[in-house]
Amino acid sequence: MCGIVGYIGYREAFPILIKGLYHLEYRGYDSAGIALINSNGGMNIYKTKGRVSELEEFCKNHDVSGTIGIAHTRWATHGEPNNINAHPHYSESKNLALIHNGIIENYTVLKKQLIQNGYHFQSNTDTEVLVQLIEYIKELNNVDLCTAVQLALGQVIGAYAIVVMEKGQNDRFIAARKSSPLVLGIGKDEFFIASDASPIIEYTNKVIYLEDEEIAIVHRHESPKIVTIGNIEKTREIIQLEISLSQLEKGGYPHFMLKEIFEQPQTLRDCMRGRVDITCNNVVLSGIIDNKKQFCDAKRIIILACGTSWHAGLIGEYLLEEFCRIPVEVEYSSEFRYRNPVIYPDDAVIAISQSGETADTLAAIDLARKAGAFVYGICNVVGSSIARNTHSGSYTHVGPEIGVASTKAFTAQLIVLAMMSLCIAREKKTVTEERFLKLLKELDRIPDKVEQILRTDESIKNLSEIFTYAHNFIYLGRGYNYPVALEGALKLKEISYIHAEGYPAAEMKHGPIALIDSEMPVVAIATDNGMYDKVISNIQEIKARNGRIIAIVSENDTAMKDIADYVIEIPATEDCFDPLLTIIPLQLLSYHIAVTKRRDVDRPRNLAKSVTVE
Ligand code: F6R
Repeated sequence: MCGIVGYIGYREAFPILIKGLYHLEYRGYDSAGIALINSNGGMNIYKTKGRVSELEEFCKNHDVSGTIGIAHTRWATHGEPNNINAHPHYSESKNLALIHNGIIENYTVLKKQLIQNGYHFQSNTDTEVLVQLIEYIKELNNVDLCTAVQLALGQVIGAYAIVVMEKGQNDRFIAARKSSPLVLGIGKDEFFIASDASPIIEYTNKVIYLEDEEIAIVHRHESPKIVTIGNIEKTREIIQLEISLSQLEKGGYPHFMLKEIFEQPQTLRDCMRGRVDITCNNVVLSGIIDNKKQFCDAKRIIILACGTSWHAGLIGEYLLEEFCRIPVEVEYSSEFRYRNPVIYPDDAVIAISQSGETADTLAAIDLARKAGAFVYGICNVVGSSIARNTHSGSYTHVGPEIGVASTKAFTAQLIVLAMMSLCIAREKKTVTEERFLKLLKELDRIPDKVEQILRTDESIKNLSEIFTYAHNFIYLGRGYNYPVALEGALKLKEISYIHAEGYPAAEMKHGPIALIDSEMPVVAIATDNGMYDKVISNIQEIKARNGRIIAIVSENDTAMKDIADYVIEIPATEDCFDPLLTIIPLQLLSYHIAVTKRRDVDRPRNLAKSVTVE
């Protein structure tokens, strides 16, 4: 939540920072702000409620000169989204400006002390407390800015990625992090700092990921110096990033979400490349091979995740139990971390996260590690906090996912879980060789089948227009398709703001069927698998109560045409891989309904891509 970016170098900072904010808008977009120090050492701060475009517009009539600056796009935690609560925040003397991503948990205590010492507050934010505290400590102890930052952070409880600048000091800014990400970009005679690499990659691919409780002192003419809060000097490895700018752009699509849906055949191939080898009849997942004992001897697997990644985890449960015969529990990270769960040292824990920065999942991992469990990460963002805080793991390799609604990351998480299950099952000999080879071949065919479904986009678009009237939707599935029903409902509600619920189809008669009338659209996943006849019966029950049924069926299905109002056909596959196909029409349906309703598809209200607060 919240995106931060900073620049120091020989170019004008303003265009770089504004562009950087546009890249980071997926992290929050309820207000934005910028601070620049001009060549005379004067500091200008501009803040506006709303999107980055509003800040850019506002700045047109103001002095935006300067080769050093910091900027912020906000997802509100403390204090409503308005101009005053927008970052950067400045200190009492207006000498210091600071941007922050995270939450200062003990801000009320600190604020009280500062007020007693004569400090005045403009905003309702926790961030303003931090900048005031830094100034208070700096003046009280007569120390330089870096020392003041170190001392202040020593008093802070919570999560932060911050960048702070000082009026009159146009040669230096200071950045620090704990539990919120921060990347330092190393250019030639210029330096960048940001919440992720997207604002940096256009200028340099050399980066340093700051670790928790590290501070970077970034000086215009010197190599950045990294120290800890306790003032221990650190040497950090410079990493060469492999993402390109084109991966961060829309490539002709009207929205990132649509681009990302259509990228899926390729991202699934990328995810399997070098791992699924059908010529050698093998699946090679190095993280699993290196840690096979941890999985093969595990008495239990616990999957930790939030949101869409949690839905992938539910499908992972079905896969791992079916093929590896290991009991699996799937937990919301946010519940797990606070409920004193039973964790055994011989549990294997799998943490799933696209961003690799979700605060609840990070905390849940911490808990599992402290209890002695082995923790395996499935992340998309390379070098992210979860990737670094797990014992081992597999990347999904889908490239940056910018649309707030997760699509291509979800299907790649499923592919990784499928590859993991096959790898462990073969090792444990819980599947026959014949079955293993059949599954492997089918997995390899999935990207082509996804491609085939994407060709039906136009008819799904037409269908979506019929249903924009609806205020509620129900999604039904059974077996492997039950979590897909949950994910389909989540996709619809988050981008179209239509209320939607996912249920296991057989549960309808235990209560929710009371909701059914002729106005209620019901999306039923009824593909040709082991549950087909059962789902048909469940759909008949809906039909008998006049529900309007959109059925996702396998090609050549004949029975459903007489029952459902609308039918979307998809290729047949193995039951266990069904979710990789059934989710595609649901992603498209949500997308088109949201577009028809003129929603901001890539940046839905109240949401942010990376949930770095609990
Ligand atoms: C929904 C969505 C969220 C995320 C959730 C976890 O489309 O994107 O529900 O899945 O916030 O995020 P990660 O996977 O980054 O841990």
